[in-house]
Amino acid sequence: MAQPFTKLAAAAATTAPSKKSSPLLVTFVFILVLCILGFYTLHHPHCSNSTSPFSTSEAVLQYRNTFLSLSSNYTISTYLRDLTLHPHLAGTKPSLDTIHYVQSHFEQLNLDTHTVKYKTLLSYPAHASLLVHFSNGSVVNLSLTEKGVSSPGFSDVVQPYHAYSPSGSAHAKVAFVNYGREEDYHTLEVMGVNVSGCVVIARKGESISRSAVISIAESKGALGVLLYAEGDRLRDGGVERGTVMRGIGDPLTPGWAGVEGGETLDLEDNQVLKRFPKIPSLPLSLENALTILGSLGGDFVPQFWNDSSWVNGLRVGPGPTIVNLTYQVKRTMNIQLGEKKVATVQNVFAVIRGLKEPDRYVILGNHRDAWTYGAVDPNSGTAALLDIARRYAFLMRMGWSPQRTIVFCSWDAEEFGMVGSTEWVEQNLVNLGTKAVAYLNVDCAVQGPGFFAGATPQLDNLLIEVTKKIKDPDSRGTTIYEQWAATNELHNEGPYKIQRLSGVDSDFAPFLQHAGVPSVDMYYGRDFPVYHTAFDSYDWMINNADPSFQRHVAVAAVWGLLVLHLADDSILPFNYLSYADQLKEHEEMLNKLLLDGSISLDPLTAAIEELASAAKEAEDEAKILRELERTGDIAVLKMRALNDRLMLAERGFLDSDGLQGRQWFKHLVYGPAGGYESKLGFFPGIADAISRSTDLSRRDGQVLIQHEIWRVARAIQRAAGVLRGELT
Ligand SMILES: *[C@@H]1O[C@H](CO)[C@@H](O)[C@H](O)[C@H]1NC(C)=O
Ligand SMILES: *[C@@H]1O[C@H](CO)[C@@H](O)[C@H](O)[C@H]1NC(C)=O
Ligand SMILES: *[C@@H]1O[C@H](CO)[C@@H](O)[C@H](O)[C@H]1NC(C)=O
Ligand SMILES: *[C@@H]1O[C@H](CO)[C@@H](O)[C@H](O)[C@H]1NC(C)=O
Ligand SMILES: *[C@@H]1O[C@H](CO)[C@@H](O)[C@H](O)[C@H]1NC(C)=O
Ligand SMILES: *[C@@H]1O[C@H](CO)[C@@H](O)[C@H](O)[C@H]1NC(C)=O
Repeated sequence: MAQPFTKLAAAAATTAPSKKSSPLLVTFVFILVLCILGFYTLHHPHCSNSTSPFSTSEAVLQYRNTFLSLSSNYTISTYLRDLTLHPHLAGTKPSLDTIHYVQSHFEQLNLDTHTVKYKTLLSYPAHASLLVHFSNGSVVNLSLTEKGVSSPGFSDVVQPYHAYSPSGSAHAKVAFVNYGREEDYHTLEVMGVNVSGCVVIARKGESISRSAVISIAESKGALGVLLYAEGDRLRDGGVERGTVMRGIGDPLTPGWAGVEGGETLDLEDNQVLKRFPKIPSLPLSLENALTILGSLGGDFVPQFWNDSSWVNGLRVGPGPTIVNLTYQVKRTMNIQLGEKKVATVQNVFAVIRGLKEPDRYVILGNHRDAWTYGAVDPNSGTAALLDIARRYAFLMRMGWSPQRTIVFCSWDAEEFGMVGSTEWVEQNLVNLGTKAVAYLNVDCAVQGPGFFAGATPQLDNLLIEVTKKIKDPDSRGTTIYEQWAATNELHNEGPYKIQRLSGVDSDFAPFLQHAGVPSVDMYYGRDFPVYHTAFDSYDWMINNADPSFQRHVAVAAVWGLLVLHLADDSILPFNYLSYADQLKEHEEMLNKLLLDGSISLDPLTAAIEELASAAKEAEDEAKILRELERTGDIAVLKMRALNDRLMLAERGFLDSDGLQGRQWFKHLVYGPAGGYESKLGFFPGIADAISRSTDLSRRDGQVLIQHEIWRVARAIQRAAGVLRGELT
């Protein structure tokens, strides 16, 4: 077997272009000249015509400009092509090639590189079938593979399946349950439809996770679940793979890292079993789904389900169509430990040691494993990560060292439930808790046009400032910020809209929701049609999402520049006034939702005011320290003390008891709500209490909600206390 990855890695990892590409040579020489000029001004600050008279910040500025000038769509596109030559599902042999590719890229840049392995429980399919018995007596054996996937180029793609679905068969009438939310079953109940004993078919909705769809179906007595996605996927027959595990991380090591030789729970342990569904499920193509749905009897779907053309004219059943759904889990994985089937996953790291504060970590991460070829998900992000590493290595050759340590992370097994990153966070919990400045995540870097970002609110200002400095990839003469703001204005979302990170859909989740590390997540485009299908390939990328790789370049620029600020700014660019403002908005929304006047939000109001005043004090202190620095009087220890408070304030939002019923999730402001239809998107504990209160007496419901409000208030007070930094 040829080893394309190692060879290509050698070619791609060097910054020097090959001899035949003369335009690149010109660019290279140009950059060299820029760098030399940069150096000159750097070491002769009086020669600079910049208005800033201070050599330290001057140097930092020069490095930032050089970082931006080193952008190259050529290198990024090369990395993406190399990474997506084969499907690379976590724990399988082809995924080793991508591990080696990333590792050798870092090594050839002379970065301090290492890998960390875990033994974790993954899940692969052996066999699946779906027989459909129509009422007219005809039987169809549906093809469950994606069209075209049997062709040679697609031979290694894993068949569509739900990871961690149990093996099993369900032979029953079919009922259509819309998105599979509680409210959908309520609607069906009102219509007189009981899905107990049925196989349910659901369309994939935005507000509900795959595992929640299965959990709810199970609780309603369904015997099996068929899940399909609407939209463009009809055209290509794509089928959306995905995990149906509850919670995140290795199910055999909940709360601790799955290191070799470490403790693992038994597969039959209740803590393990509760992570998995009890009924089998399969993903379906839209075409197959419509074949089944079109044959159902019973009432027409209610008018208010009709929010897409695909639902028009459907009936809910149950039956008369009967399906026989059969799914069989693969019993052979890399390594077998007794009864357990365990695979090895590997995270790859490169570390740039900080010069002044080596024990402060700015962490940037992306997962590497993919359901199929992973051109969008996740290797557009990997390509950007590798390009940032290339550019930082160049800066290091120019003499740059960051003030704080920068850690590049390439995660494994994210698709199975953030397994690689979660195990690592669990293994390093205290070190991260005390030393991690921020975690910057990029998963599907480029899905199409338009910039999107999520962040914890103290990072909003930095994100905005950085996007103001970078050229928009699609409109000449404008910045990313200008286009971002314009798009949001268009949708009445204010000048910019930064999402909050309550979702559990990428590797920021363990960092923020378990360890309380301030986090960012960003991407170009959203809702790309080939999500988790065999068609998420390099060809799709160049034909649809980013033909000239300029959006990749833009993401790398924002990501890399954010890190440079967090690693080099003498005072951390965290603004807790915007956190307090955001919390005030959250409180107002909560107030609108709580119709019960006997529940008091006063504790929350007071706590938010405390945070705002601590944030103001921190801001004033930062101003004084910056002024001192300007006059050459660098108060190193005072800066370090303020930075520690800025870094650690986010940890205040953690609560050691965590969210009720999901104790692993410790963050009381941002995290997943257990009530599947939370309208809040923040304060998950309060959201849960509100949804649970509907099953309680009015009094008990009030007590429950009020208690959760107090818990959030205390969390905000803790954050304020950390920021202020004084003992009471
Ligand atoms: C249905 O098709 C699958 C795959 O083509 C095949 O393995 C299976 O035996 C078929 N089942 C029946 C009952 O015909
Ligand atoms: C649905 O049917 C099952 C079994 O017949 C029954 O136990 C359950 O109570 C029914 N559910 C409702 C909401 O009527
Ligand atoms: C039976 O019904 C199905 C679904 O309505 C249809 O596709 C099929 O052609 C029918 N077969 C016969 C023999 O009528
Ligand atoms: C809803 O149904 C009506 C009539 O059945 C149809 O005209 C309309 O286009 C549907 N709405 C959507 C969003 O498809
Ligand atoms: C359902 O299909 C599976 C696999 O094709 C088969 O083994 C099983 O006997 C079928 N069950 C019923 C009840 O027809
Ligand atoms: C890089 O961008 C330029 C300008 O948009 C484009 O002409 C070129 O084809 C791109 N290169 C790659 C490899 O996409």
